[in-house]
Parts: sequence; C-alpha cells; structure tokens
Amino acid sequence: MTLQAVPDERGGARLVRPMQFTDLETVAAIERRTFTLPWSPAVFTGQLARETGIELVCEVGRRIAGYVVADMFVDVWHLMNIAVDEPYRRRHIAAELLEAYFAITELRGHRGHTLEVRVSNTPGTELYRSFGFIATGVRPGYYSDDREDALIMWKDWEGESA
Ligand SMILES: CC(C)(COP(=O)(O)OP(=O)(O)OC[C@H]1O[C@@H](n2cnc3c(N)ncnc32)[C@H](O)[C@@H]1OP(=O)(O)O)[C@@H](O)C(=O)NCCC(=O)NCCS
Repeated sequence: MTLQAVPDERGGARLVRPMQFTDLETVAAIERRTFTLPWSPAVFTGQLARETGIELVCEVGRRIAGYVVADMFVDVWHLMNIAVDEPYRRRHIAAELLEAYFAITELRGHRGHTLEVRVSNTPGTELYRSFGFIATGVRPGYYSDDREDALIMWKDWEGESA
C-alpha cells in the first residue's frame, strides 16, 4: 500500500494507513458510537494479531475518522467491519478505505468478496453496491439484538455457488 497523504477537502491531510494496536482505543470508541452490537476492543486486538487480515484506518488531520477490517477465510475475502465517525460521513472516506482494501486484495488473490449488512442499512448497502457488490440472499434474524435480517452480498465470486 502506498502511504501518501492527500489534502482533505476541509483542510488537513487525509491518509489511509494500516491500523496499529495504539489506534484501538480511538477505533473502539468510534465502534461504540456507531453500532448497537459493537465489537469489543478484544475482538479488534485479536483481529490485528491475525496475519491474514487487512485492517486500515483513515486519518483526517491526524484524527482517525474511519476504519475497515477484513479477513480471508479459505479463499474468500470477508469484509467484516467498516465505519466512519458520524461527523466525517459523506466525504468519500469509506470509499477511500474500500479502494485501499481492494488494491491490497487484488495483490493477494482470491475467489471473491462477501459481507453481511443489515437490511435496513441504506448507507451501507448503497456503499457496497457502488463498489459492485450484489445482494445474493438473506440470513434471517442474523443480528442478536433485534433479530434483524442480514443481506448477504458478494462481489467477483468465482466459485460454483454463493
Ligand atoms: C456506511 C458508511 C461506512 C459510509 O461511509 P461514508 O464515508 O459516509 O461513505 P462515502 O462518503 O465514502 O460514500 C461512498 C458511496 O456510498 C454510498 N452512500 C454512503 N452513504 C450513503 C447514504 N447515507 N445514503 C445513500 N448512499 C450512501 C453512496 O453511493 C456514496 O457515493 P456518493 O457520495 O458519490 O453518492 C457510514 O455511513 C457508516 O459508518 N455507517 C455506520 C456503520 C455502517 O453502517 N457500516 C456498514 C455496515 S457494517
């Protein structure tokens, strides 16, 4: 990954870089503000310790504005978590994180990308659609807090069935 800061539209520098253990306090705080079922800091720590994973943050003016976490299971990339802190949304930060993610996964090889997203999550599903993900099915009652269904989405699947 090229680490190159670019000017942010509202000033400061914008940089996508690998997540570090020292980022986890800030990342976990954004996670708690964002999700009704937030990952615990221990889950982030465990994920960062895995060698197969991709964990990136986007800094704007040296503040962490968002992050993405993904991992390869068998030969498929699973986009496991992406969030942008509320004040930074609609500034293409998630898009920039996903572009960096796709650049890395293209180098490593795979048979596709998959994810789950709440059926009610329009920002999430529209973000994924804009990157070519297609909804292929539903996992009924997937989310343990309110039993909302998850939409299963795939991109570039090269196997027999999804
Ligand atoms: C989903 C989320 C990560 C998007 O982050 P973001 O930085 O605001 O998104 P971007 O500005 O990069 O948007 C890229 C594209 O996604 C789509 N999109 C993003 N937010 C949208 C919204 N609120 N409504 C409709 N489409 C949206 C658009 O196609 C957008 O492109 P455009 O701005 O050129 O129209 C952010 O809203 C968020 O953190 N939500 C809470 C956590 C979450 O739902 N994560 C995903 C499911 S796990």
